[in-house]
Amino acid sequence: MAATRRAVLLVGGGAVLIAGAGAAGWALTRAPNAAREPWRRAADGFGDPRLDALAYAILAPNPHNMQPWRVRLDGDDALTVFCAPDRLLPETDPMNRQIAIGFGCFLELFRQAAAEKDYSADFSYFPDGEPWPTLDGRPVAQARLVADGAAARDPLFGGALERRTNRAPFDLNRSVDPAILDRIVGASVPGVEAAATGDPARVEELRVLAAEAWEIEWNNAPTRRESIEVTRIGKREIDASPWGLSLAGPMIEALAAGGPLTRENMDASGTMAYRQSLAFYDRACRTATAFVWSATAGNSRRDQLEAGRAWVRMQLAANAEGVSFHPLSQALQEYPAMAGLYEKAHALLAGGEGGAVQMLARLGYAKAPPACPREPLTAKLIGA
Ligand SMILES: Cc1cc2nc3c(=O)[nH]c(=O)nc-3n(C[C@H](O)[C@H](O)[C@H](O)COP(=O)(O)O)c2cc1C
Repeated sequence: MAATRRAVLLVGGGAVLIAGAGAAGWALTRAPNAAREPWRRAADGFGDPRLDALAYAILAPNPHNMQPWRVRLDGDDALTVFCAPDRLLPETDPMNRQIAIGFGCFLELFRQAAAEKDYSADFSYFPDGEPWPTLDGRPVAQARLVADGAAARDPLFGGALERRTNRAPFDLNRSVDPAILDRIVGASVPGVEAAATGDPARVEELRVLAAEAWEIEWNNAPTRRESIEVTRIGKREIDASPWGLSLAGPMIEALAAGGPLTRENMDASGTMAYRQSLAFYDRACRTATAFVWSATAGNSRRDQLEAGRAWVRMQLAANAEGVSFHPLSQALQEYPAMAGLYEKAHALLAGGEGGAVQMLARLGYAKAPPACPREPLTAKLIGA
């Protein structure tokens, strides 16, 4: 788009005119750059190998980007990881299973980043016992770093700063090669059974499952509101609170400035903002060209952490192959309105062997989005 032209954004029949210095230049000024700073700073080096590894761990994928981690540095070489009680998702994730999976992603990135600097990470999971039915004030994990010249570097770590969750529509004319699917599944860890499919009939079945589950989640007021409450609209809000779900970009800014895109409208059925939210994610579900999922035999907190470790590894493996990756967790969620599709998802994905399906993602090809906002590392450290 020529920098001197006016941009006309057509949305749902309405037109928003953006006048002024030019759309392309204006778009650049609306990028939430401060919120992306932790990605640019991760490789800087912080004078302590724990901080160096944590700078990557905080970039872990995690539900609704709640970034629930709080870290206490202990002595010279150890740390304890806690879950912030105000960063849970009680409606969509009543057992905090997904939050625990996010911690598994966090610990795996910590491990990989430490190995890169010749340290091995000695972990103890839930050292004061597993919290049930929800996470509580007890530690999620303790870790000690040990200088270890033989610590094996992980080839997946090379892509840590390029890893992205991609919610864009995928290219329906490009399928994912079965050999690539095998390599993605092969990045899992022992105890976490992963599988993938690019078979058109199976993919269609899972697209429909994911789309129906999304419709239930958005039309169900408590789960919809939980997401809307942590949605940031536009650069100003995102830079001020770089956690939660973020809607960024020139189109979003224009709609927010013009009025139709507000949190209130997103919550009111019949508005364009409500319908567009439904349609955006429905389109994502229906443009999957392959799916990957994972399951564990049990569903202990430890299983959930392992599922998280496996998950970020598979996402790194996919992104390293140029494959876009988008978790679609709705059908796996444990709230009453989802019970029917939860059962269906387990029948389709757990292979009739019982166990818990932990994650499901669609795969395909689309341009990678920019890095997702993060709070700075310093905001995650707590005192003794
Ligand atoms: C356990 C878990 C469940 C997730 N479920 C979804 C989901 O259902 N839909 C979605 O769009 N993203 C989902 N995500 C992706 C997160 O929203 C994403 O990791 C977060 O916003 C940070 O973005 P990033 O991965 O690009 O850094 C999930 C991530 C995790 C770890």
